[in-house]
Amino acid sequence: MPADLTGKRCLDVGTWDGFWAFEMERRGAASVTAIDIEDPLRWDWPPQAAFGAANEARLGYLRTFKSGAASFGLAKEALGSSVERIDCSVYDLDPAVHGTFDVIFLGSLLLHLRDPVRALDRVRGVCGGEAILAESIELLPSITRPRTPIARLEGMDQSWWWQPNAAGFRRMVASAGFEILEKTGIYFLPTGTAHPRPALHTAWRSLGSARGRERIVTRVKGIPHTAVRARPLG
Ligand SMILES: C[S@@+](CC[C@H](N)C(=O)[O-])C[C@H]1O[C@@H](n2cnc3c(N)ncnc32)[C@H](O)[C@@H]1O
Repeated sequence: MPADLTGKRCLDVGTWDGFWAFEMERRGAASVTAIDIEDPLRWDWPPQAAFGAANEARLGYLRTFKSGAASFGLAKEALGSSVERIDCSVYDLDPAVHGTFDVIFLGSLLLHLRDPVRALDRVRGVCGGEAILAESIELLPSITRPRTPIARLEGMDQSWWWQPNAAGFRRMVASAGFEILEKTGIYFLPTGTAHPRPALHTAWRSLGSARGRERIVTRVKGIPHTAVRARPLG
């Protein structure tokens, strides 16, 4: 994230409680628009995750406690912020409706989308400057296959579709028509207290599966991420 965003028109995609939108405003942005989807049933979750019987309780939890709009409103009021929040899917970003933005931030969203490249394509369509794209990645293939773009398809009872390695994430960005200007290494976002965490004393049972190993990494270090700064081709 550039330290100084003075005069920039900014967009935060999948803002949730608005952390990055408010941060862009704090860094001097002339205006910040934040988009998200209020109703969890309109998220692009795998049908097994959204409608499977076992997940009714989880959806209830999400509706009640994960309402980004409520926490966004609270923070906006506390900060005296003028960030504008719009109920809009990333898939519906449209330069004819929303205009173009000098700086766009998108974080930890693509894993929840069945078509991450289309989403990135929509971001490119409203990007008149640069995009900072920071995503969850799968750790092991990022280390063992650093140059080979790979993504593991989940798409079942969890809320994510694709788990790319770092090279796979960068390939998604490039294939959506961005030029990558800068990239980070792998970093870990520690989970908050409400995030589901496997108990360490039972964790060894999970070592046999990719998902199990990821859960252990998440428990110990946080969620592996990598980020790029990119601009639209052409
Ligand atoms: C894991 S949170 C990331 C929050 C924030 N970007 C961050 O980095 O802290 C994913 C967010 O994406 C939102 N979301 C899910 N599907 C979306 C879509 N199709 N378009 C826009 N936002 C979406 C969710 O409501 C949620 O707030």
